[in-house]
Amino acid sequence: MRIIALANQKGGVGKTTSTVNLAAILAARGKKVILIDLDPQAHLTTFLGIIPEQGMLSSYEVLTRSEPMANALMDVRENIKLLCSGLDLAAAEQELVSVVGRETILRDAIANYDQPVDYIFIDCPPSLGMLTLNALGAARELFIPLQPQFLSLQGLSQLLESILLVHKRINPELMVTGLFFCMFDQRLSLSSEIVGDIEEFFAQQRDADCPWKNITLFKTRIRCNVKLAESPSYGQTIIEYEKNCNGAFDYNALADEIMMMVGEMPPKTELPSEIAPEKSAEQPVDSPVVEAADASKEAVDLEIQAPQLIRRPVEVVINDSVKPSVESTDNI
Ligand SMILES: Nc1ncnc2c1ncn2[C@@H]1O[C@H](COP(=O)(O)OP(=O)(O)OP(=O)(O)O)[C@@H](O)[C@H]1O
Ligand SMILES: [Mg+2]
Repeated sequence: MRIIALANQKGGVGKTTSTVNLAAILAARGKKVILIDLDPQAHLTTFLGIIPEQGMLSSYEVLTRSEPMANALMDVRENIKLLCSGLDLAAAEQELVSVVGRETILRDAIANYDQPVDYIFIDCPPSLGMLTLNALGAARELFIPLQPQFLSLQGLSQLLESILLVHKRINPELMVTGLFFCMFDQRLSLSSEIVGDIEEFFAQQRDADCPWKNITLFKTRIRCNVKLAESPSYGQTIIEYEKNCNGAFDYNALADEIMMMVGEMPPKTELPSEIAPEKSAEQPVDSPVVEAADASKEAVDLEIQAPQLIRRPVEVVINDSVKPSVESTDNI
């Protein structure tokens, strides 16, 4: 069973869109999937056509009322069960403050679920509060969806600081295993530059003792695609709404990569003929990345080196003195 959190405290980067569409594609391939909506905005829940109502068991009851996950899961599609977000979920942040072991409640709830499941995806809110901490406490893998923008880099270093703390204090099993770009526009040179900085940064970290040393920078880039933006308003996943569009194609390609990273063989996809492979997001954009990554190999040390574009470098030492410098990590 893979337990994957999709997290990025920056809002609107594609966390929910990716969670729901990856789940839909994997479920269509026969995988048993559980989706956990940990966002009080309940976008994942509404994306799947469910409106949170009073009295509905949700992630709130699982986190704050010891409700077994099995009681709260609902069948939303073939092979997909949803732990929906509740109306009160925002209050959980406060309610959990005085609870001992508050960061591992979700982990325990998942451990007590005894039905067969292949993939659990956890959709996080755009913050680094207690809900995201519970996701990071429960997950074994973290995927970071990122938009190729300058401010994303700053957010990334803040996210990595939190992950380091969680890895050290709450969940040593947590590894950052994947990063992919969403709403990617390869006509913009800034996109290529940001991709280059990210690749260079993670290349430097390969030999460091950190939870992202084996990260996969997925080749698939999720392109801007209006169908992806339209489908939630119909309560449909992209393969229900329009399976012959670039959005569906990109998420299929990403699902292939996600399966292959653990040695699973994705099915041969029957790609629609009008989407030619050369237009696909599988082709990385040209960038000066490779040279830069090679040149930086000797720069590996025990400190996290923020990508060049980040003006406020992260000051975290991996081995011993991890100093939380982010207010929102005070909970850890
Ligand atoms: N590839 C894409 N092309 C076009 N629109 C997209 C794409 N991906 C997501 N969107 C749209 O962008 C908006 C933000 O996406 P999404 O809700 O998935 O982000 P998020 O990171 O979950 O946001 P939040 O941080 O608020 O939870 C949504 O309206 C979504 O429909
Ligand atoms: Mg979301």
